[in-house]
Amino acid sequence: MSDVSLQARRRRTFAIISHPDAGKTTLTEKLLLFGGAIQMAGSVKGRKAARHATSDWMALEQERGISVTSSVMQFPYGDCIVNLLDTPGHADFGEDTYRVLTAVDSALMVIDVAKGVEERTIKLMEVCRLRDTPIMTFINKLDREGREPIELLDEVESVLGIQCAPVTWPIGMGKRLKGVVHLITGEVHLYEPGRNFTRQDSTIFPSLDAPGLAERIGESMLADLRDELELVQGASHPFDLDEYLAGRQTPVFFGSGINNFGVQLLLDFFIEHAPAPQPRATTTRIVDPAEPRLTGFVFKIQANMDPKHRDRVAFMRVCSGRFEPGIKTLHVRSGKEMKLANALTFLASDRELAVEAWPGDVIGIHNHGTIAIGDSFSEGEPLTFTGIPNFAPELFRRARLKDPLKLKQLQKGLTQLSEEGATQFFRPLMSNDLILGAVGTLQFDVAAYRLKDEYGVEAVFEPVSVATARWVYCQDAKKLEEFREKNAMNLALDAADQLVYLAPTRVNLQLAQERAPAVAFRATRETA
Ligand code: G4P
Repeated sequence: MSDVSLQARRRRTFAIISHPDAGKTTLTEKLLLFGGAIQMAGSVKGRKAARHATSDWMALEQERGISVTSSVMQFPYGDCIVNLLDTPGHADFGEDTYRVLTAVDSALMVIDVAKGVEERTIKLMEVCRLRDTPIMTFINKLDREGREPIELLDEVESVLGIQCAPVTWPIGMGKRLKGVVHLITGEVHLYEPGRNFTRQDSTIFPSLDAPGLAERIGESMLADLRDELELVQGASHPFDLDEYLAGRQTPVFFGSGINNFGVQLLLDFFIEHAPAPQPRATTTRIVDPAEPRLTGFVFKIQANMDPKHRDRVAFMRVCSGRFEPGIKTLHVRSGKEMKLANALTFLASDRELAVEAWPGDVIGIHNHGTIAIGDSFSEGEPLTFTGIPNFAPELFRRARLKDPLKLKQLQKGLTQLSEEGATQFFRPLMSNDLILGAVGTLQFDVAAYRLKDEYGVEAVFEPVSVATARWVYCQDAKKLEEFREKNAMNLALDAADQLVYLAPTRVNLQLAQERAPAVAFRATRETA
């Protein structure tokens, strides 16, 4: 087997999806801890705080108590290399999250035992479904009183439309929490807050019949548990690897992230069963991860991550081959050769210069505005990866300068912020307005803050009569020109110079569509 194939098989690249407050940050931290990537719990949150301290615009993030940035964390576990792609938690930053989900091979869904399936989880699940992403489920906060486990599984099945296969099952909950049973191995893991860092540090009974267990959890609880398990096994589905990999079944674990409880059982199962990097579609062919030549695509761009560097970093997911510093690649969209010299990898501790990267890994490429979200890179062959969407924004504002002489800086700032993908920038064909589109109102505050902080421009965002935007496509150049002339008042160019129809009302959009049947109006732009 080739090196590339071997390295690809070792990779597990995934993201955690959850509703805010379900415990994603805590679980991330515990996973890193089990992976040996960090020494002490508290450092993920600590790291967040340190970033706030060094970066002014993130003070806004701190004020709002939400996470604006996503990061990539790599850690070894057993024979595997795990890449955890963090997703921002706040609903306003949905697009960024969606695109992160295009770069993973599987996802982990965290659900709060008391709250069950929440609104944001439903949305994220819809995105996973688009690509049939395999999903494991962790039901968290078992140390608190919550809903009946059976009821929660029912809710996941009916609301999220995915079959549940419980792999562990809780013994009690809240104050009565005694542990979990592993339904496949039969082992019983007792709950001991603050412990459970290793198997040696945990109390594990090989089965429900093991001597001593009844004394530990009580005769009557054990009897109840046996009854319950009979019911569960009759009513639920056994774990089926193929169904999981096809995205139709989710293995379910119970635990308490903050108490390290149930986390290692989840991680061990994840390493064993979660998919390694999968083949990926391009506009011309499917690319297999084991192919020797490097390919990848950019799913995220972040400006000024570190004020010391003042850089913009493009996050590229490696799809095949091997990255090494200085490798010459084709930047497919521009057709130009690009030497990737100082790429970064994202170790949990800090960013470091990448020595090598393999399929499933993410590297950070320094960028001065030439790279856009969705761009593909390859070692020669012009391959364009598909499926990285740009969503139509739902809110629009016109940027107004306090100092009109700063127009150039404003344009530069808006263009660069749009490259990150959280906002989109439109220039109408017939006016000098600069219009910013976003999926959430908070993004306008972030944009204003960052324009001032990073570009020295004071701008306000005021209402503008745009209800929705559609990217316009037409095969027939003549018909497109005709459409352009007739509708110039409502047309604009986005940051990548693509034609966009800015509709003042939904009715107007409908009429425009009816009048131009040859023109396609798309709510997403595939950044190809
Ligand atoms: P998020 O990233 O999904 O938003 O969630 P996060 O991990 O920040 O957790 C949200 C809150 O839930 C935190 O409390 C966290 O301590 C708590 N939590 C996480 N896992 C568990 C668990 O297993 N059991 C219990 N009881 N609580 C848990 P907080 O008070 O908001 O923050 P903090 O003061 O602990 O930092």
